[in-house]
Amino acid sequence: MFKFHQTKYTFQILDKMRCLRKRSTVSFLGVLVIFLLFMNLYIEDSYVLEGDKQLIRETSTHQLNSERYVHTFKDLSNFSGAINVTYRYLAATPLQRKRYLTIGLSSVKRKKGSYLLETIKSIFEQSSYEELKEISVVVHLADFNSSWRDVMVQDITQKFAHHIIAGRLMVIHAPEEYYPVLDGLKRNYNDPEDRVRFRSKQNVDYAFLLNFCANTSDYYVMLEDDVRCSKNFLTAIKKVIASLEGTYWVTLEFSKLGYIGKLYHSHDLPRLAHFLLMFYQEMPCDWLLTHFRGLLAQKNVIRFKPSLFQHMGYYSSYKGTENKLKDDDFEEESFDIPDNPPASLYTNMNVFENYEASKAYSSVDEYFWGKPPSIGDTFIIVFENPIVVKKIKVNTGTEDRQNDILHHGALDVGKNMLSKQIRQCDTYLRLGEFKNGNFEISDVNQKIPFDIRCIRICVTKTQKEWLIIRSISIWTS
Ligand SMILES: *[C@@H]1O[C@H](CO)[C@@H](O)[C@H](O)[C@H]1NC(C)=O
Ligand SMILES: *[C@@H]1O[C@H](CO)[C@@H](O)[C@H](O)[C@H]1NC(C)=O
Ligand SMILES: *[C@@H]1O[C@H](CO)[C@@H](O)[C@H](O)[C@H]1NC(C)=O
Ligand SMILES: *[C@@H]1O[C@H](CO)[C@@H](O)[C@H](O)[C@H]1NC(C)=O
Repeated sequence: MFKFHQTKYTFQILDKMRCLRKRSTVSFLGVLVIFLLFMNLYIEDSYVLEGDKQLIRETSTHQLNSERYVHTFKDLSNFSGAINVTYRYLAATPLQRKRYLTIGLSSVKRKKGSYLLETIKSIFEQSSYEELKEISVVVHLADFNSSWRDVMVQDITQKFAHHIIAGRLMVIHAPEEYYPVLDGLKRNYNDPEDRVRFRSKQNVDYAFLLNFCANTSDYYVMLEDDVRCSKNFLTAIKKVIASLEGTYWVTLEFSKLGYIGKLYHSHDLPRLAHFLLMFYQEMPCDWLLTHFRGLLAQKNVIRFKPSLFQHMGYYSSYKGTENKLKDDDFEEESFDIPDNPPASLYTNMNVFENYEASKAYSSVDEYFWGKPPSIGDTFIIVFENPIVVKKIKVNTGTEDRQNDILHHGALDVGKNMLSKQIRQCDTYLRLGEFKNGNFEISDVNQKIPFDIRCIRICVTKTQKEWLIIRSISIWTS
């Protein structure tokens, strides 16, 4: 158990390192050692919050005793209180009602290239009229330079006046006096002093933004100030959240990059804000986020493909250095996220390790993997309730394992469930055969005269290759 976690983390760490190496000149080994040390502080086999709290308390007394925010973590069981900051409202009308999603971004003056206006434009442009009613955008102008803020506010109010009036765009600022010390900070990772200052201030910028947004909606997604959104991203997010109903999650990721497209329950925001403040000088915020998720016992990354958000910036906000990191899973155009209504999945195939049947059906980037199937083997999806199906799509194999497809197979739909005990349908109707390992059919509801309770994938010829079912997508009407 312990081993498994640690291996997973090490991979994540290495993954991070790779992108970090591009971004800064941090020494690989140094970071690895410090990171592993830090991880060790709380990755023990007790992966529970109680234990973590104890460990954090120890960590914090070791490292953060002298900080200004020491009082906030004396009692870690109480993370729910807001941070007492009096915000300046640079452009805002009072929030009339709670929305579904708040989109938060924090911006500082850049040496080269500002993309903030483009980012705000992209959020609104890529949303439909209906979607706009359910979002609010909060921009934290976090630079201490007031003349820069004045210029930005002027630009924003000129360009987006009607969104401000409609209460869906707010521009705020947290005054400098609320910030903890930003000079003479710890030089972790051997970062240069101005880099430490930059990333530490950024953690506080985010903390104050999150703190502000705790009460404006049900969910919150963090963007950066140089992001392009994909069309109808809100609808995609809603579908994903609905498909995860009843499961435990802390962070959903809609982009591979930095602090873009990370989604939280709004009720977690005060905790997250306190957490960033507590460790603001320790490490960059995207690392802290990984810890936050781990501390709240979400073990693995839950990331969605395609990505909904992309960096548009060529220059990073730190010193205007080049930043060409792009997310190759980003799709800008509207794409059709499946509905995948609640269902149970069964197979009589020989499942490989933990690549269970349900992994073929989840919207997360994971799949089912079975040992070579024989003729007559089946893979069955039983819906909780009979449904009207519009479209079905099944993909097998992956880019890396193009042989692990279903070489000969067919897809059936079933009507009545046999009984509560035997989760199977009694009669099936064949919809078609797999071609090159893939199956797709539209207008199912016009071809089938009943509501569908089961979908069955049948192996029609024994194969010597293993079988990966990468995704099963169901669209309801
Ligand atoms: C948590 O903090 C809030 C505000 O800071 C306070 O009103 C509340 O009583 C505290 N709860 C506990 C359990 O200490
Ligand atoms: C918040 O801070 C202000 C001064 O900055 C103080 O007057 C007020 O009492 C504080 N409120 C709470 C709830 O601590
Ligand atoms: C503040 O920003 C303005 C406009 O961007 C710039 O002209 C000025 O030099 C800045 N002031 C400081 C102290 O950096
Ligand atoms: C959150 O909103 C509720 C209802 O609108 C309000 O009563 C409460 O005071 C708000 N809390 C904060 C921290 O703003």
